[in-house]
Amino acid sequence: MERKRRLAPSILAADFMHLQEQIDAAKAGGAEYLHFDVMDGVFVPAISFGMPVMKSVKKGCTLPLDVHLMITQPERYVTDFVRAGADILTVHYEAVKSHSRVLEEIRTWGVKAGLAISPETPAEEVKDLLAEIDQITVMTVRPGFGGQTYIPECIDKVRQIADWVDEKGYAVDIEVDGGVKHDNVDIFLNAGANVIVTGSAAFKGDVEQNVRIFLEKMEEKG
Ligand code: DX5
Ligand code: ZN
Repeated sequence: MERKRRLAPSILAADFMHLQEQIDAAKAGGAEYLHFDVMDGVFVPAISFGMPVMKSVKKGCTLPLDVHLMITQPERYVTDFVRAGADILTVHYEAVKSHSRVLEEIRTWGVKAGLAISPETPAEEVKDLLAEIDQITVMTVRPGFGGQTYIPECIDKVRQIADWVDEKGYAVDIEVDGGVKHDNVDIFLNAGANVIVTGSAAFKGDVEQNVRIFLEKMEEKG
């Protein structure tokens, strides 16, 4: 099945004093999602931002919000993030006990359900859950910080998951998150990813131009 390629710039790397301008630039460059990284200081060491910031961003941004919850017990906050404006709400496999229950709850709200897996989690663990989600996020760095270098072993995981999704014909987007740059995005696309998260490579320097270059590289060839 053909999966539409989309770029999801992560505002974790944005200049928060100029957030509106930077989001507008990402949109002008052709970004189709805005990736929103929520960190609680427990599931990952860092703390980023949460619902109040999201509510403001939602007011000033027409792009769908691709919300990545790097928090423990995310099931406690599904309603809050839905209300704050999430269009895709992703929980971490490692942070949840009853996966089916939380994924179902997200979908009941009419929001796309996403599942993220950290580098140390084998792909097999999420295989059976692919039927219950709209997007899988393969972390290509350890979650918690922007600006890291991707872990090459994670590429096999993307390939494996893409094969399963294709075999079953699931309508599941395959997102990669962490260390994706202009000069390596091809590797992730070739492995089967279709949603590309990029933080530092989008927001450092000329945002519109950075996004445009990504999209040129992501255009389907042939
Ligand atoms: C890392 C976050 C990423 C991060 C990506 O835990 O989930 O979304 O912002 O940033 P870069 O592209 O700089 O690796
Ligand atoms: Zn993320």
